[in-house]
Amino acid sequence: MEEVTYQGLTFEPYIRREEIAKQVHRLAQEIKQDYEGKNPLFLCILNGAFIFASDLFRACDLHDAEISFIRFKSYDGMSSTGEVKQIMGLAEDITDRNILIVEDIIDSGITAAQLRKELAKHNPMSVKMVSLLFKPDALTVGEPPEYVGFEIPSKFILGYGLDLDGLARNLPDIFALKERKQ
Ligand code: IMP
Ligand code: MG
Repeated sequence: MEEVTYQGLTFEPYIRREEIAKQVHRLAQEIKQDYEGKNPLFLCILNGAFIFASDLFRACDLHDAEISFIRFKSYDGMSSTGEVKQIMGLAEDITDRNILIVEDIIDSGITAAQLRKELAKHNPMSVKMVSLLFKPDALTVGEPPEYVGFEIPSKFILGYGLDLDGLARNLPDIFALKERKQ
C-alpha cells in the first residue's frame, strides 16, 4: 500500500481495512452480548466516529438498538486544544436509557470525560464507551473506554473517519505520520 500526503506531511499505512473490520466484528459480538434486550442508544461522536459507528451499528445486529449523534471539537491540526466545544447537542431524552458512546479515538480523554459528565446530568441507566482506538500513554483524565478496538502509541493517525483539519476521513485504511529520519 502506498504512502499518502496531506498538507506536506507523509503518512504510512498503519492499520489495514481487513484488520479494522476484524476488530469491529469482535467488538460487535461483545456489545451484542452485553446489550441484547436493553434498547441501547448508541451515541456517535461527530465528526470522527461516523464511519466506525456505521460499521459497528450494523455489525452489532441488535433488534432494539437506536443511534443518535452529538458533535464535539477539541482538535486543531495535530494536537488537542485542551478545550472541548459542544457544537451540536443531544436531541433524545436519555433518562433511564442504556447509553453506548461511540468514539473514533481516545487521546487525552478530555472529550470523553466532559461528555460523561454532561450525560450523567440527565440520569441515564448506564453509560459505557466504545472507542476504535485508544492511546493509553496520552490519557490525562477519566477512565479508559470499556470497549477498545486497538491500543496504539501516541502517534498522529488519520483515515477511516479520522482527519487532519477535515481531510483524509474517506481513506478506507488508517495511516500514521511518518517519523522523520534523524
Ligand atoms: P481527546 O479529547 O484528547 O481524547 O481527543 C479526542 C478527539 O481528538 C478524537 O475524537 C479525535 O477527533 C481527535 N484525535 C485524537 N487523536 C487523533 C489522531 O491521532 N488523529 C486524528 N484525530 C485525533
Ligand atoms: Mg472525535
